[in-house]
Amino acid sequence: MRPLVFAANWKMNLGPAEARDYLATFLKAYSPQPNRQVWFFPPAVSLEAVATGLGNRADLLAGVQDVYWEPKGAFTGATSAPLAAQAGAKAALIGHSERRHVFGETDEQTGRKLAAVLEAKLHPVLCVGETLEQRDAGRTLEVVTRQLETALSGGGGARAATARVTIAYEPVWAIGTGRNATPHDAATVHAAIRAWLEQHEATETRILYGGSVNLKNAADLLAEPELDGVLVGGASLDPTGWGELVRTAAV
Ligand code: 13P
Repeated sequence: MRPLVFAANWKMNLGPAEARDYLATFLKAYSPQPNRQVWFFPPAVSLEAVATGLGNRADLLAGVQDVYWEPKGAFTGATSAPLAAQAGAKAALIGHSERRHVFGETDEQTGRKLAAVLEAKLHPVLCVGETLEQRDAGRTLEVVTRQLETALSGGGGARAATARVTIAYEPVWAIGTGRNATPHDAATVHAAIRAWLEQHEATETRILYGGSVNLKNAADLLAEPELDGVLVGGASLDPTGWGELVRTAAV
């Protein structure tokens, strides 16, 4: 079985006490499985509770959902990569579509954040994906390539950064809509991303798929060898269901 990443993006859900209850249930239900890693992205206020709750299990880690690019200072409301690391983060989501489309983050800002995450020695998960309008206009690959190029050129040159990231392909139209890409649709875009990465000498980079992944469709998606894992929002919020998804989705 190939190594797979199951990443849970809790978005703006589960405060510290709820996070502790969640982990108590999850850890009881889920014992380490071969070749599977489970990454949790709680809201920043719950990061320390999650990082502490996961203990030293090598198959589990905690990460932050977003960072600002400056390391510290007068930036009210922001979390930096070094501060997230102090709270126990080992990874960071960067350029999530909600940051781009709800909060207006640009490709260039995503690039600065990615560079800051690398500088803080956290593992970046760079999210890319097209809107429905862009997909219907046949622009998926152009949009995704532009997002990769702009974000990764901020990290000390595309080549240096490219080998040190995980990519999450999340078509915007599939997020929280119940409408997911077919395994074939996802694999086609993953293959294009992989080709771009290979041109930049990154041959080991993992590519996760996200967008309405759940217990019912995860196994079919992961049957596509192009998918190295999944990034899951809504279906990761129930610890029992999430444990079952991680345990049963890999073929
Ligand atoms: P849903 O799984 O709720 O569609 O969210 C996907 C996502 O945005 C994960 O980052």
